[in-house]
Amino acid sequence: MNVLTFNNPYEPAIRRALSQIADPGRVRVLFICLGNICRSPAADGLMHEVVASHHAENRWEIDSAGTGGYHVGDLPDPRMRAHARQRGLNLTHICRQVRESDFDNFDLIIGMDESNMRNLHRLAPTPEDEDKLLPMAAFFGSYSRHDHVPDPYYDGAQGFETVLDILTEATENLYDTVTAEI
Ligand code: 4NP
Repeated sequence: MNVLTFNNPYEPAIRRALSQIADPGRVRVLFICLGNICRSPAADGLMHEVVASHHAENRWEIDSAGTGGYHVGDLPDPRMRAHARQRGLNLTHICRQVRESDFDNFDLIIGMDESNMRNLHRLAPTPEDEDKLLPMAAFFGSYSRHDHVPDPYYDGAQGFETVLDILTEATENLYDTVTAEI
């Protein structure tokens, strides 16, 4: 669903971010969370699936990174990998930390929660680079009662399932919105 077709409080931010897409033939999106072992690698894996289902792999570049560096070099959290695998999704991303050059190499930089967004605003080299920043909540549809993707790290199994449910819808909405609007 194109999230600009309903009254979306994030509309101005979404339109600003879409105007930062340098080449509509190649959309470069980076998902960000704190650890880059739970939420953002799941968003990364799900977005790859959405893009593949539309045979649009050559039009999208997708990656993820963490604001923190505690898990650099690691595969995603074993719990996240197990929950994703139950849905047929294999998560193989290797954790890395976000860096300033990501603002040159990506058009849209999408944070999972407000703390991620604050850290990204601090890291952005220029105001134009800040325009690339969006919270994942901008793409929530039926989950719009949530205002962020909750951190599942200290949660039980249900936390991981909720994150996967939210991100499944949000990545589809991101794809639909970008393809409809650019
Ligand atoms: P993520 O979850 O930000 O979704 O990858 C976390 C992973 C690790 C930690 C916190 C959150 N940690 O504190 O190590």
